Amino acid sequence: MPDESAIIHIEGVEKRYALGGEADVLALRGVHLKVHPGTYLAIMGPSGSGKSTMLNILGCLDRPSSGSYWLGGENVATMPDDQLSEARGLKIGFIFQSYNLIAQLTVIENIQVPLLYQGRDVRLFHQRCVDLAKLVGLGERLGHRPNQLSGGQQQRVAIARSLVNDPLMILADEPTGNLDSRTGTEVLDLIDRLNAGGKTIVLVTHDERVAARAHRVVHMKDGLIDREVVNRPPPMPS
Ligand SMILES: Nc1ncnc2c1ncn2[C@@H]1O[C@H](COP(=O)(O)OP(=O)(O)O)[C@@H](O)[C@H]1O
Ligand SMILES: [Mg+2]
Repeated sequence: MPDESAIIHIEGVEKRYALGGEADVLALRGVHLKVHPGTYLAIMGPSGSGKSTMLNILGCLDRPSSGSYWLGGENVATMPDDQLSEARGLKIGFIFQSYNLIAQLTVIENIQVPLLYQGRDVRLFHQRCVDLAKLVGLGERLGHRPNQLSGGQQQRVAIARSLVNDPLMILADEPTGNLDSRTGTEVLDLIDRLNAGGKTIVLVTHDERVAARAHRVVHMKDGLIDREVVNRPPPMPS
């Protein structure tokens, strides 16, 4: 049964990668996790422990081989593909290590991309996109292209883009992995501000200083959550 107070509720999630002929890889081996709205959760663990697999499943980019996943109370483990991609587009914002901006598009156009995926009329959302560019400190750079921006600025465009459909949560895989420590700190400060505004954040990191900002840190090992550290109490479920 789904825990209705949780934004993420996974039970017994396994992920098996079939390797044609070879033995399969069991990348997740029965993971349980509940995350309440407004929580900032960090996922840590050694390379190969299943962090990216977990984030891909949480982000509906991939499905569990078995087990349950309720996202905002809705069972997404068994949802048909078209519904799953719609849920993903509306409920989840993504931030990647390598920003994943479109080189030919300007700052404002990159921020608009998830609107297009949802089939929305971007003209109706122009002011929202401008406001998001301002929120991330790029209000004066709307017509710039990615190669005219620093890495930190590009990641801030990606953050604005992740917010454009007003998702329930933001998922980030090593968002500061390509940034120097000063610009990395600026990006993390911005993520802190989003969380302070109530946005749920799930972030994968190798960096203890990044994880220290989260409410909760789950440590993965061999496809399971091995232990959890609570840095500070997450918001109470309402
Ligand atoms: N597409 C895939 N096909 C086969 N095996 C994979 C695939 N993706 C990941 N794996 C394997 O699953 C395990 C977990 O990988 P991953 O989730 O990427 O770990 P992490 O992000 O913690 O480094 C590893 O053994 C990895 O080799
Ligand atoms: Mg990974």
